Amino acid sequence: MATKGRNPILLPLVVLSLFAIASAEVFFEELFEDGWENRWVKSDWKKDEKLAGEWNYTSGKWNGDPEDKGIQTSEDYRFYAISAEFPEFSNKDKTLVFQFSVKHEQKLDCGGGYMKLLSGEIDQKKFGGDTPYSIMFGPDICGYSTKKVHAILTYNETNHLIKKDVPCETDQLTHVYTFILRPDATYSILIDNVEKQSGSLYSDWSILPPKKIKDPEAKKPEDWDDKEYIPDPEDKKPEGYDDIPKEISDPDAKKPEDWDDEEDGEWTPPTIPNPEYKGPWTQKKIKNPNYKGKWKAPMIDNPDFKDDPDIYVFPKLKYVGVELWQVKSGTLFDNVLICDDPEYAKKLAEETWGKQKDAEKAAFDEAEKKREEEESKDDPVDSDAEDKDDGADAEGDDDDAEDKSDKQDDVDSVDEDVHDEL
Ligand SMILES: *[C@@H]1O[C@H](CO)[C@@H](O)[C@H](O)[C@H]1NC(C)=O
Ligand SMILES: *[C@@H]1O[C@H](CO)[C@@H](O)[C@H](O)[C@H]1NC(C)=O
Repeated sequence: MATKGRNPILLPLVVLSLFAIASAEVFFEELFEDGWENRWVKSDWKKDEKLAGEWNYTSGKWNGDPEDKGIQTSEDYRFYAISAEFPEFSNKDKTLVFQFSVKHEQKLDCGGGYMKLLSGEIDQKKFGGDTPYSIMFGPDICGYSTKKVHAILTYNETNHLIKKDVPCETDQLTHVYTFILRPDATYSILIDNVEKQSGSLYSDWSILPPKKIKDPEAKKPEDWDDKEYIPDPEDKKPEGYDDIPKEISDPDAKKPEDWDDEEDGEWTPPTIPNPEYKGPWTQKKIKNPNYKGKWKAPMIDNPDFKDDPDIYVFPKLKYVGVELWQVKSGTLFDNVLICDDPEYAKKLAEETWGKQKDAEKAAFDEAEKKREEEESKDDPVDSDAEDKDDGADAEGDDDDAEDKSDKQDDVDSVDEDVHDEL
């Protein structure tokens, strides 16, 4: 949004508010207008190894407003780390809203599009993959197994992944990701101003041990009938049922004319399956009138649960950053917002992404059309290559299922995971 007629250079590190919503407190807002470079610090992380990627200040190849720029990863196989500082604050007794927009122009097949909030004192020049963070939020895509929105919360120096699956957008257009964390320890995750997931910090992360557990002392009562179906006592095996042979002699078979009993032995007709034979008898089943349902141990208070009413509190939030590894570059971040008012965030998303999305889609469709025309003109073989790709993708599905089940166990060993995936 370069058209707002303010001079952000005069207000480095200071919050710039788009709208006069009296109740909203905006801790950080970055629309990447002129002067953004004064507010953001590029890290030296991976520089020595020549693996630090360059950011491109651009509105991208397709957009809804060429003047509205953001920052885009511009080199393949590179690490990216950049951060901005804001006046330290605590979200105690406040709603915390963390929002940004991201566009993967490169048709991301493996890479992150998430951002981090960091706390305390951090050397921004050294910000990298090992720098502790408080919240990591946003989309992450890798092959077929990972297409999700991360929402990782750090509590007592341990990173906790959200346990619910929140699918992310996978197209090449801009989307707005919003994380809302409330003082009653509830949260919401929005994509493009639509709520995709919500719930409680207590149940959707394993930050604290569960409040209730199954009573380990409880035992299923002896007389508990948990058989849903029982054999029907009315259903009796018909007389002679077991005497019906499985096979019978073929009644239509005839002894061949030239059959010589002396030379060929006694002729016996071939056998065929007996149409009367219905397999071994099984008794019909009926609903058990005494069925009591599956037995479940009663839930009791977990003796290991100690409540922390500040479970949602990050007392020293001070930086926002992007720290990514990208195989293929082209991810564009924009409109970063940290505030205490979901309504404000919603309005900002409407004013930026909302106003531009149709034009961006049209520009993208145009670009795609051009690309396809070029491809079929230059190199008709290319379309074949794409078909092959699809085949390979389909194979990938198998791994997928495995990956998912693995992930359930990994929920707490987050960080390695995230980076392994990338
Ligand atoms: C920056 O992005 C623009 C728009 O996509 C592109 O034309 C330009 O080549 C990019 N520059 C670099 C250095 O990648
Ligand atoms: C914090 O972590 C330490 C070390 O892992 C552990 O001993 C302690 O119980 C944890 N405290 C809470 C409140 O979870």
